[in-house]
Amino acid sequence: MITRIDDCKIIYLNRIARPEGNLTPVERANGFPFDIARIYYLYDVPGGTDRGGHAHRVLEQVIISVMGSFDVIIDDGWQRKVHNLNRAHYGLYVPKLIWRELTNFSSGSVCLVLASLRYDENDYLRNYEEFLRYKENDRTIS
Ligand code: TYD
Repeated sequence: MITRIDDCKIIYLNRIARPEGNLTPVERANGFPFDIARIYYLYDVPGGTDRGGHAHRVLEQVIISVMGSFDVIIDDGWQRKVHNLNRAHYGLYVPKLIWRELTNFSSGSVCLVLASLRYDENDYLRNYEEFLRYKENDRTIS
């Protein structure tokens, strides 16, 4: 299936709000798009840093700002869109073969990523031209 910008969706997570603070559990549930194989988080990111210019051949992910804010630029080879993430109870679902960049980190922000695969460098497309070629190939095959 060819993935497009519109396949990237905001996913709302449960928020248990109490006067003493909020809690958001994430667990396998109806509506969550994949089984989580790995969690990683970015922190101590210097304000203004850009990260994550790459796409994945297979991996799907949900990107959450659990603290502070940052922008996620998504690009399907035809269109680009920017999502500002700034709350801990929702995340951006990014399917396979979407180029994504993380920018405009506020200082002290923490980016949590829920991923469908364990770390595998072979799953990365780190070169934008290579991504476009791969995407074109995917379009031809689909
Ligand atoms: P990378 O995915 O390139 O981060 P970003 O695109 O956000 O800058 O990862 C940076 C480094 O961390 C790279 O050497 C691979 C390593 N890494 C792991 O070892 N395990 C992981 O789960 C991730 C996400 C990265």
